[in-house]
Amino acid sequence: MTPARRRRRAASITHLWAREVLDSRGRPTVEVDVGLSDGSLGRASVPSGASTGRHESRELRDGDETRYGGFGVRLAVRNVTDTIAPAVIGRDPFDQPGLDRRLIELDGTADKSRLGANAILGVSAAVARAAALAEGVPLWRYLSRTAPALPLPMVNVVSGGLHATGGLAFQDFLILPIGAASYSEALEVVYAVRAAAGDLLAERGLSVLKADEGGFGPALDRPEAVLDLLVAAIRRAGRRPGDDVALALDVAASHFFEDGAYRLPDRPAPMPSEDLVDRLESLVDGYPIVSIEDGLAEDDWEGWAVLTRRLGHRVQLVGDDLFTTNAARLERGIEAGAANAVLVKMNQIGTVTETIDVLERARAARYGTVVSARSGETEDSFLADLAVGTAAGQIKIGSLAQSERLAKYNQLLRIEEELGRDAPFVGAAALASASRLVG
Ligand code: PGA
Ligand code: ZN
Repeated sequence: MTPARRRRRAASITHLWAREVLDSRGRPTVEVDVGLSDGSLGRASVPSGASTGRHESRELRDGDETRYGGFGVRLAVRNVTDTIAPAVIGRDPFDQPGLDRRLIELDGTADKSRLGANAILGVSAAVARAAALAEGVPLWRYLSRTAPALPLPMVNVVSGGLHATGGLAFQDFLILPIGAASYSEALEVVYAVRAAAGDLLAERGLSVLKADEGGFGPALDRPEAVLDLLVAAIRRAGRRPGDDVALALDVAASHFFEDGAYRLPDRPAPMPSEDLVDRLESLVDGYPIVSIEDGLAEDDWEGWAVLTRRLGHRVQLVGDDLFTTNAARLERGIEAGAANAVLVKMNQIGTVTETIDVLERARAARYGTVVSARSGETEDSFLADLAVGTAAGQIKIGSLAQSERLAKYNQLLRIEEELGRDAPFVGAAALASASRLVG
């Protein structure tokens, strides 16, 4: 049974505090505490990307090389305590849109660079948490504007790109347990395939050291070698590739796009968009790939339209750096027929309200939605609740490893328990909505 919404008691924000804590790369990040007049306390901490899109909101870093190599966030912390707190104390914590509008106004820049998207998101998310507590409902319920559902996990098994040092140009090789009937069953399948992949790597004398998101970072350089490994791992785990477990890629192509062309290590000559689309098409022909993220670079709009025409009827095409959880960029994509799904990362845009607006706009346009973590994460599990409350359908947190990832996977297990035996689980249906769009 889903807990019913309680009647809201009047409350106001009485206390706002921030501190510097460390993320999963050991780098500083912002943590915010919010206190309400009824005694409720909300806390949130902010993640950080490594392969960040050019159009993301800006996180504010101190740049003082004598501390944490310049990654300190004391300026952002001070912006919370000295600038945001006086403007927010006394406000109604249940008016999240009003609060987020006030934060945007207070910052005054298009990319939140004055106060820092890290400062702003910390406050926005901590207030939502405090308000949920004050209302006496779980966060997923507080955030929901639709029937809640547990998402299908897209789980990183092998990492390349800017998250690893093995030599792979593509960033993420993921598995999707599309045959699972529930979220908890999905995790069991992922565990088995991931363990088999580790065994296969070890048998071949390849490294099983972990990359930033807990995936393996072997010294392989061709995507086909990784995809072959994953298909073999699925079989060794006793599952059927394409039926029980499908594959997905995050190409993260922006980072190897230079001077109008794509540069892959196994192809010495720079390639135009069409050649990379050919390459991706041959991968889709040869492997049970159902989703490709950032197959082309963040500003290659024409290429994206070609990619979507060519592959959008067969696979989900997810815009991450392309959209940066930004409503205006998503709108442009919808109009141009670019991608058929959006990756949603709260810190790319910087407030809870703007994030939910992007999820709702995508759904209205029948774009698929994937709520995503960053490569630098904390123990904060807000995005698990966000994915359930908005029935996003898919979630991408990294590998089934490391506590900053498991904080989210485990929160989803708790929510599944809370929702009861018949907890709605989106499963493979999440992918259908995206590829139905084109073709
Ligand atoms: P990032 O990578 O958090 O380093 O940006 C995640 C992704 O590209 O999906
Ligand atoms: Zn990505």
